[in-house]
This record gives sequence, structure tokens and C-alpha cells, in this order.
Amino acid sequence: MNVNLKTNSQKLTTILEVYNLTVYYDSVLALNDISLYVNEGEIVTMIGPNGAGKSTALKAICGLLKPESGVILFQGENINGRQPHQLVERKLCLVPEGRRVFASMTVLENLEMGAFTINNKGKVRDDINKVYGLFPVLKERRRQKAGTLSSGEQQMLAIGRALMLNPRLLLLDEPSLGLSPTYVDIVFEKIKEINNNGTTILIVEQNARMALEHADRGYVFEIGKIAFEDKAKNLLENDEVRKSFLGG
Ligand SMILES: Nc1ncnc2c1ncn2[C@@H]1O[C@H](COP(=O)(O)OP(=O)(O)O)[C@@H](O)[C@H]1O
Ligand SMILES: [Mg+2]
Repeated sequence: MNVNLKTNSQKLTTILEVYNLTVYYDSVLALNDISLYVNEGEIVTMIGPNGAGKSTALKAICGLLKPESGVILFQGENINGRQPHQLVERKLCLVPEGRRVFASMTVLENLEMGAFTINNKGKVRDDINKVYGLFPVLKERRRQKAGTLSSGEQQMLAIGRALMLNPRLLLLDEPSLGLSPTYVDIVFEKIKEINNNGTTILIVEQNARMALEHADRGYVFEIGKIAFEDKAKNLLENDEVRKSFLGG
């Protein structure tokens, strides 16, 4: 069932719930008892300075890191301790920082690799066409080696490859990092479009203002803790948030 839950605030369904998540790297505390949630259909952003723990949170949610303690519910199921591939099967997918595409493979081969869990060839072809619909430049360059694409195009390919898994919840780590302003705009436009097509999105961003302008709600991280959480609109207007995190 694919109901647009944004139109009816009485019927918001929570897709992700994180309670009291604590993560250590060896003996170093990286996340200290944080809680957050994402409703189906939302774009939620996690912002805050470098080293605050945002990527750690994403990695713990998608099974790449084992938390010390906490509960992570995805569609009501406790997924804490599951392997990343088990979460991919449940349609929880991460696009990691740094657009890791397979450089020596073509654009098309990268997209096909993204669909490695899907056996139905017709479905894979349809999904590739959907990705091409969203990112026409990837269709134009489908026979080009991914390593020869511009950084902006590589980011689109990394996102397109994750979309091949038909995620219900897409985690994005710094998708605009290192991109030219034009590509930053395009990436955020595409994120909106992916969301409008029915995918819920949790996005970590350095570009805090841009992220809040495109999100429904936000969490502001500060050294292993969540310092503020609110509707994105309210965070943009919050004096303390503006002064400390949005450059005044
Ligand atoms: N693999 C790692 N080993 C040890 N410490 C790490 C590792 N990754 C991150 N950290 C530390 O954990 C803290 C949070 O990092 P991170 O989640 O990457 O922050 P952010 O994504 O907000 O910039 C930082 O102090 C960082 O140095
Ligand atoms: Mg990070």
C-alpha cells in the first residue's frame, strides 16, 4: 500500500525509531544516548559540526557498526545487531559518504550491480529506466566508465545505484560534499523528487541551511548528543541554531 501519508497528519506512521543509542569506537564514546525517529514520507536531516557523530548514527542504523546499547526499530522490528545485507532486504539502504562508485565499470554496470539482490531481469530493466528518468545524464553516459564522470555525476550514480534496491528508507551521508553549487542544487532537487516518488529519506549534511530548506524535520548534533530537534522550518528560525550552526 502506498498512501501519501503527508496529506493526513492523523495517520503518520513511524518507519524508523531509535532509542537511547550509544556507540563507542574502542573506548571512545562517539554517540551518547541519542534518540530520534523518522515518519514514513518524511525527509529528515541530521546536521552539526564535523565529528559530532552523524555518520556514526547512520552506520549504526544500517548495521555497519555495532552499538553499545540502544534500540533501533525499522517498521516496528528491532534491527539492532542485524547485518547490512539483511537490512537491504528489508529496504533500508545507505549511500555512504564519498560516492563510492565502481570506477572501472560503466554507468550501466554500476546500476546492474546495485540490483544484485534482484533476480527478475524485467524488473531490473524497468528500475534502470526509472533511474534514467530521474537522472537523464546517466542514460547519456551509460557506456562511460564511472571513474570518468564528474563528481556530481558520480553522486547521482551512487544515489541511482541505491535506488535499484527500491529502498523504503534511504540514508544519505553528505551527498552534496565537494560538489559545485550547481550540482548541490541538482542533488537536493533530486532528493525531493525521490521523496515525492515515495521514498522516505534520512540525510546527513554539512550544508545545514540547504538541508533544512529541503527537509521536514531536523536534528542538530553536537559532540555525540542531539542539541536541538524540531521542524526544519523552526530550526531555520531558531536564533541559537542560526548563530551556532547556520553562520548567523
Ligand atoms: N572508525 C573510527 N574509529 C575511531 N573513531 C572514529 C571512527 N569514525 C569516527 N570516529 C570518531 O567518532 C566521532 C564521530 O565521528 P562521525 O560520526 O564521523 O562524525 P560526523 O559524521 O558528525 O562528522 C568523531 O570523534 C570521530 O573522530
Ligand atoms: Mg560524517
